[in-house]
Amino acid sequence: MCGIIGYIGSKEAYNILLQGLKRLEYRGYDSAGIGITDSKTGKIVLNKAVGRVEKLKGKEIKGTIGLGHTRWATHGKPTLENAHPHLDCSGKIAIVHNGIIENYLELKDRLKKKHTFSSETDSEVIAHLISENYKGDLRKAVMESINDLYGTYALCIIHQDKKEIVVARNGSPIVIGLGEKENLVASDVSALVEHTKRVIYLDDLEMAVLKQDSVEIFDKDGKKIEKNIVTIDWDLTQAEKAGFKHFMVKEIHEQPDIIRNTLNLEMPKIKNDFKRIFIVACGTAWHAGLVGKYILEKHARIPVTVDVASEFRYMDPIIGKGDLFIAISQSGETADTLAALRLAKKKGAKTLGIINVMNSTIARECDDVIYTRAGIEIGVASTKAYISQLIVLYMLAESLSGKEINGLKDLAAKALKTVDLKVKAQEIAKKYFRVYNFLFIGRNINYPTALEGALKLKEISYIHAEGYSAGEMKHGPIALVTDQVPTVAIAPKDSVYSKMVSNMQEIKARNGRIIAIATEGDKDIARYADDIIYIPKTEEILTPVLAVIPLQLLAYSIADMRDCDVDKPRNLAKSVTVE
Ligand code: F6R
Repeated sequence: MCGIIGYIGSKEAYNILLQGLKRLEYRGYDSAGIGITDSKTGKIVLNKAVGRVEKLKGKEIKGTIGLGHTRWATHGKPTLENAHPHLDCSGKIAIVHNGIIENYLELKDRLKKKHTFSSETDSEVIAHLISENYKGDLRKAVMESINDLYGTYALCIIHQDKKEIVVARNGSPIVIGLGEKENLVASDVSALVEHTKRVIYLDDLEMAVLKQDSVEIFDKDGKKIEKNIVTIDWDLTQAEKAGFKHFMVKEIHEQPDIIRNTLNLEMPKIKNDFKRIFIVACGTAWHAGLVGKYILEKHARIPVTVDVASEFRYMDPIIGKGDLFIAISQSGETADTLAALRLAKKKGAKTLGIINVMNSTIARECDDVIYTRAGIEIGVASTKAYISQLIVLYMLAESLSGKEINGLKDLAAKALKTVDLKVKAQEIAKKYFRVYNFLFIGRNINYPTALEGALKLKEISYIHAEGYSAGEMKHGPIALVTDQVPTVAIAPKDSVYSKMVSNMQEIKARNGRIIAIATEGDKDIARYADDIIYIPKTEEILTPVLAVIPLQLLAYSIADMRDCDVDKPRNLAKSVTVE
């Protein structure tokens, strides 16, 4: 949700901010803006665009202090007026904001007697509020102002008369990059790595003042504090496409290596004395959690409940001491997952994070954390992070049960063969890319695979797709089946194979077309399927890893054929830091 970048130093800021915004664009991409204190006039000049960051290229503003923002609209449409930075009425103060100010209407009502508003955003109130409190000390004005804010924010502020950037955080991530005679601030480290690897993560209610030669951090009472400097081990090549057309397809191809890397990680020692496990997550990470339930219950025989975080946080869950709460999140910043984690902690559960982004808020707040080894995931649709979450869940089941899962070590090699199915996926995509609806069905441990296949397709190709447990089809969704509504059936040779075949026959009997994901060597399936993608044979418990890869490839190929913006699907953002 929204990307923020700030620069103060001796270099021209514009192209540094622009490059940073490009790296952050996956966080939000409906409009963008840059504000710089013009070195000639000493006034803040803004440059905004509706649409992509690219549109800001070549419109340089000269100056060495500035802020940039890429927006994912919450309050108000993507227009120039609503794009950040926002100015106060004097034009001397500029702010960029990520988060939601819940009491903005109340504040706006109070402020509009003296201040003229030019946008529909919640964020603009912050600029006017700071201007109201400004008496020569920007940090103090910001501190006073945030006392009046109810909601979440990562905030960066400049004043035309000050050689500093003031930063504040509550609930939305922000990280400071320490350079040589320059300092930066950004929503995540991807925008900082080409300038520095030394960073400081701000925690909630902390503030920072960045100058060219110094960074000072303050706690909620305004007291100066020391914070750890973290060295990040990211490689910039991870943020490049390396010859692939899109990040998504590059990331799908990285999966065999990611399986290998994740299997090499060291598991924290987790004592198996839990009554129950609760897994909470959102979207694709929730699907990983659903697979996790089958894995942990089958292999470790511990009862597992899985909920989406946005529901869990409001359901007054019966959780407490003796329970293990697992938060799964790629970004480690998802607002609902974070709120669910805080609730579980408050109720006394032990907490474990399965997280991809190091030092993210959820990772820092969990009692234990297992970092997935997916590397930076840039495509908005999650692929490799999902695979690495599944691998961690297998390892966790091994660790909790003390028993090995057969076949896990061979999985990377099999995934490599599965990634090669791209051509087959393209062939099938060519037949179906114009349809309006798709169904995905699976059973048992591959029921969540059906949900994930449907989610991948709908989010990047905008084709309506529904994932169903195959046994539920005749309770309603089979009414949708026609020769214009293809069904993807995940039907590896496993304990529910014959049940899947019956469900496929029911669809065929109603003129439905079927694309089957089947096990190599299964010739019989050709009797029930119009198209088949064969995956290597593996243990039943491991099939979700191999079965999801052709679904990712199919969704990718269809979306690409429909000329969709695969890496930045409409209305979505990579890191969902608002509720
Ligand atoms: C779908 C997708 C989302 C995320 C969800 C949770 O492809 O990427 O559904 O899985 O927003 O995000 P994290 O894992 O960052 O908590």
